[in-house]
Amino acid sequence: MRRKLAAGNWKMNGLPADLAEVSALMAAHAAPAIDILICPPATLLAPMASLRGPHALRLGGQDCHAASAGAHTGDISAPMLRAAGADYVILGHSERRAAYGETDAAIAAKAMAAHSAGLIAVICLGETLDQREAGQTLPIVAAQLAASVAQSATAQNTVIAYEPIWAIGTGRVPTLAQITEVHAKLRADLTQRFGAQGAGMRLLYGGSVKPSNAAEIFALPDVDGALVGGASLKAADFGAIISALSAA
Ligand code: PGA
Repeated sequence: MRRKLAAGNWKMNGLPADLAEVSALMAAHAAPAIDILICPPATLLAPMASLRGPHALRLGGQDCHAASAGAHTGDISAPMLRAAGADYVILGHSERRAAYGETDAAIAAKAMAAHSAGLIAVICLGETLDQREAGQTLPIVAAQLAASVAQSATAQNTVIAYEPIWAIGTGRVPTLAQITEVHAKLRADLTQRFGAQGAGMRLLYGGSVKPSNAAEIFALPDVDGALVGGASLKAADFGAIISALSAA
């Protein structure tokens, strides 16, 4: 059984005042039946870790370097995230692939670093609108999966997030059939490569998930949860998505 996961990606949003949203979320979901993850900016990891106390809330970084320490100005390592209270780290988000030229090979190296530090890697992939319209979606995501998922991946230490780039922050969502088709392909490829471990890896959908569309997405086969951007910033919205996933 794959445990469901509702993951929030705060991106470059969040000041100490926003910790109130986390308190409200924990109060509304005091004993969650699913995994709840928030990936705040690194500056809020330690404050959130103190705030959560014994609550089951999981925390994550939004990126890490492949090295554990060294002369890499501005970067953060997997052991640093772990020490600040992180359990997970998002890797290969399309915004990082686009803005920093992160390659699949670089993402695989970061995933190995995450695994070595005891972090669960949430590896993101997805096609552009041009690739979708050219009928290239399945080969594109298959190639990203093959090259960005490190050989050290297991059902426990790796989560895959399918995020069509054209659906991120746009309000545009693929059809349920399109999500189903991609998730089936990812599952088949993971199972072929990793066997039972691949069958056990969680697959998230991401891109404009909101309270109004969450339930129908969570009802799809091989959708084990969501990676949520904008709608994860407010406890009311993220809480509604958590409730939809808990009920699925
Ligand atoms: P969005 O972002 O939910 O705001 O579309 C999703 C993501 O980038 O992970």
